[in-house]
Amino acid sequence: MHKINIAIDGPASSGKSTVAKIIAKDCGFIYTDTGAMYRSATYLALKHQVPLTDEAALVELIENYPITFKQTDHRQLILVEEQDITDAIRQPEVTNNVSEVSAFPKVRAHLVKAQQKIAASGGVVMDGRDIGTTVLPDAEVKIFLVASASERAKRRYKENQAKGIKSDFDTLKGEIEQRDYTDSHRATSPLKQAEDAVLVDTTGMTIAEVVAKIKEVTKEKV
Ligand code: C5P
Repeated sequence: MHKINIAIDGPASSGKSTVAKIIAKDCGFIYTDTGAMYRSATYLALKHQVPLTDEAALVELIENYPITFKQTDHRQLILVEEQDITDAIRQPEVTNNVSEVSAFPKVRAHLVKAQQKIAASGGVVMDGRDIGTTVLPDAEVKIFLVASASERAKRRYKENQAKGIKSDFDTLKGEIEQRDYTDSHRATSPLKQAEDAVLVDTTGMTIAEVVAKIKEVTKEKV
């Protein structure tokens, strides 16, 4: 397949990474999880006790501890200094603080540059919040995935149950709504549908149906 770039944006837990990974595998493209980059910065700040309000110190942390992605047969690992932090960056403490860190313009500038470098030769499926608007405004395919907050909390609740993590549905829903609000209202590249993105409401759709829909859009654009 011609090496195009596919941008998939949308709110928290809208299923972006699940479908992005499948599409990347099927097309032989590289999958890039940009949320993992903001999560890693947050994880590092908490670990090194860097105040989440100190933009300069956060940028220094990102410069000193670049993250790398490592593809294994089963999953994509996130590494910092050879250490596997894939699961650590999904912990609630990181999830509930990441929007504060990702709102800083200098943090974003740094990570956006790294993301653009990854996609420079094409053949990338990248998911996030600002891929279609800011990171890859020329991406050949742009998708904006949405689903109701209840549906997204339900999916997250079931995932947690399967992993043996106890959670409360209303708390999960509240946290998802709070994160969406903060991500949508920040000054620098907020979560927003790009004008030329195709809106896909996944409420009530299966993963296979969402993948098929995105492939249909992709076929039309290449
Ligand atoms: O996609 P995920 O839920 O892992 O993203 C975690 C957080 O990282 C988001 O809530 C948002 O604050 C930030 N993010 C961002 N821009 C992106 C990707 C993620 O601001 N492109």
